Amino acid sequence: MDQLTRETAHILEQNWRNGFTVPTSKLYPFQWNWDAGFTSIGHAYFHLDYALRELQSLFSGQWANGMVPHIIFHSENETTYFPNHDFWAAEVNPGAPGKPKTSGITQPPVHGFVLENLLHKFPDNPAVLAFVKDLFPKVVQSHRFFYIYRDPQREGLCFTYHPWESGRDNSPIWDESLARIVIDYSQLPAYTRQDTKLADAAERPTTAQYDRYVYLLQLGKNNRYDGPGIFAESPLLVQDTLMNAVLIRSNQSLIHIGQRFGWDTGELQEWQQQAISRFREKLWNAELGTFTSYDLRGQHAIPHREIGGLTALFAQIPNTEQATLLNDYLRSLHQRGYYLCPSFDVDSPLFDSRRYWRGPIWSPTNWLVYFGLKNYGFLDTAAIVRADLLELVEKLGFYEYFEPQKRLAQTLTTGYGGNHFSWTAACVRDLLQEGEGARSRKSEVGSGKF
Ligand code: GLC
Repeated sequence: MDQLTRETAHILEQNWRNGFTVPTSKLYPFQWNWDAGFTSIGHAYFHLDYALRELQSLFSGQWANGMVPHIIFHSENETTYFPNHDFWAAEVNPGAPGKPKTSGITQPPVHGFVLENLLHKFPDNPAVLAFVKDLFPKVVQSHRFFYIYRDPQREGLCFTYHPWESGRDNSPIWDESLARIVIDYSQLPAYTRQDTKLADAAERPTTAQYDRYVYLLQLGKNNRYDGPGIFAESPLLVQDTLMNAVLIRSNQSLIHIGQRFGWDTGELQEWQQQAISRFREKLWNAELGTFTSYDLRGQHAIPHREIGGLTALFAQIPNTEQATLLNDYLRSLHQRGYYLCPSFDVDSPLFDSRRYWRGPIWSPTNWLVYFGLKNYGFLDTAAIVRADLLELVEKLGFYEYFEPQKRLAQTLTTGYGGNHFSWTAACVRDLLQEGEGARSRKSEVGSGKF
């Protein structure tokens, strides 16, 4: 094992908490939904049982309506996190499990393609086969939640009403919707942030943003987290590119799995057909040459180039011409001295290379874009995406996110946010496996290759 591989193993082991993995020990002391998916892929290299238990633990928090919550509070005594389980009060919904405690919103549904990834790596392992059989209907049920509760107009695209659901918590794509929120401070419950005590405030969301996150949380809670009032009332209602691309890719993975085992995939195929064509026609932004999220409340596209649009490659949504534009865009950033892939448009006045999802590079999105580029045979760009993440981690450590400007990164000694980060270790481990030889292999969604 080389040094980097050893470090990934060490981080994943250190963050393992007897049944699940924390993203990083202090800042995020519970289990996060899409983190668990990527982390499971990482664990599979060292402890297959951890990989399976990780997903099992996550789905132990699934609600009766199918929703897999964005946080599972396996330990109720941990006090270093806000909003904690008591603030979420998931019990307002009778379908929330009493134990484990959970949050009341969800996150990008990666688990369909994570299952396929495990199956691809362990095609004949009896424990994996039994596990897939058990989890498959639960993952389908979690997709049903999106189509029933988040697509009331039956368009094939799901909405989100809280930025935290998208995984890209404070991306500028939410700014306009958040600015719509008028806060009545006599109604907003008192709260104390914990994140700024543990991380640099300059890298975290502002107080005004945080008040609005809490406002939207309350709005969800007042509607039992799944009531029709959310669609009727929420000032933030967005059909997000990444959420929908991930859902589409996971539908596809479930279809492959179902076909392999002879299980019924009719419902999945129906969702899929509608979702892909709607995504293509509604979210393609010809002016910007990328896919953009759609503001359902404001009834317009959210006109920003950002990482979500690029993840459409992972679900094989773009046609060749669109994929070429996305590839060219990444090549131009590379030529201009940026590491790939910045989370937000480097030419926008809203770009902030240090602050969370407003510019920095994140490992899970690099992972998605890497495999997305391979889908289309853009192997050289894929190799850059991979090499850039590996270089950043080697130079700066296994951080939560990274500086995208090469010149500035050279002056730094660390990454940003939390250190010893689980999904950074997991994505690095998986990308290391890809190796240089992978440049000549084309991955295909159709065959489920990763
Ligand atoms: C931050 C990220 C989110 C992630 C969580 C735990 O909130 O924005 O995507 O799931 O941290 O790592």
